[in-house]
Amino acid sequence: MNKMEELKNVSCKETKTLRGGEKEMDKLPADSLEAYDEKYAKGYGLQYPDGHVIRFYERVLKHELKLTKGKILDFGCGNGIHSKYFMDHGFECYGVDIIPEAICQGQKFMGEHAVLIEPNQSLKKFFHKDQFDIVFANQSLYYMNNSDLKKCVDELYEFAKPGGICFFTMMSRLNCYANLIEEEYDNGLSKVVLKNRLRETTYINFVSNPEELEQIFRPFETLHIGCYDLFSFLSSEDEDGCSHHYIYIGTKK
Ligand SMILES: C[S@@+](CC[C@H](N)C(=O)[O-])C[C@H]1O[C@@H](n2cnc3c(N)ncnc32)[C@H](O)[C@@H]1O
Repeated sequence: MNKMEELKNVSCKETKTLRGGEKEMDKLPADSLEAYDEKYAKGYGLQYPDGHVIRFYERVLKHELKLTKGKILDFGCGNGIHSKYFMDHGFECYGVDIIPEAICQGQKFMGEHAVLIEPNQSLKKFFHKDQFDIVFANQSLYYMNNSDLKKCVDELYEFAKPGGICFFTMMSRLNCYANLIEEEYDNGLSKVVLKNRLRETTYINFVSNPEELEQIFRPFETLHIGCYDLFSFLSSEDEDGCSHHYIYIGTKK
C-alpha cells in the first residue's frame, strides 16, 4: 500500500494525534476547535467548489494569466474541496488547517500534502521561500487578529514565487455578521454572536473598504479587487442576511 492509500484508511480519530510541535495551543474562543472538529465530522464544509473560486480559475488563472499548472498552498483548506478542484485542473496542492477532522478529510485528496497545524504557528518548517505559484486562502484569514494576520501574510508572500499569485477573501462590514457584533477588540477582532440557524459565537476581523484590503495584503501588488455575495435574503437581519466578502488577487513582484 502506498502512502496515499494508507492515509485514505486512517480514521479521523488517528489524525487528531498528528499535530506536531511542543507549543501549547494558542487560546482560542472557548468552543472553537472542538466545535469545529465536531462540525466537520457531521459534514460541515462545502461539497462542491464555490462559484467565485471557479471564476477565479476560469477568468483569471486560465484566461488572463494562462496559468494552468503549478503548486498551490491552500491556507485554511478545510475539507480540501477547493484543492481538489485545482488538482482536477492540473495543479499540485498543499493544504494546512487547524482542525484535525478537516485535515483528515483533506488528506483523502491531498495525502501527506494536507498538514495539521497549530493556530497561528509559523509554517516555515513545512514550506520554503519561492515555493508556490499560487497562495490561496478562501474564508480563512479573517479569523486572525491583526498581528497574526500580518505575520501570516508575510509568510505567504515569502512562500510565493516571484511572479506568483495570491487569492484571498475577507469578510466585509457589509456582511450581515457585522450587524451581530457584540464587542470589538483592539486587536482587530469583533465578537459575533449568531443566535438563529447557526447558534455560535465567532470572532471576525472585518474589512471596511478596498483601501484597507490592499493595506492588509501588502507587500503583494494588487491585480484585482472584487467581491462576492453568494446567497442573501435581503430582508433578513440574522446570519442569513447579506453574505458580502471582498476578494483580493495580487502578485509578488
Ligand atoms: C469557512 S472555513 C473555509 C474552508 C475552506 N477554505 C473552503 O473554502 O472551503 C474556514 C477554515 O479556516 C480554518 N482556520 C481558521 N483559523 C485558522 C488559522 N489560524 N490557521 C489555519 N486555518 C484556520 C478553519 O479551521 C476552517 O477550516
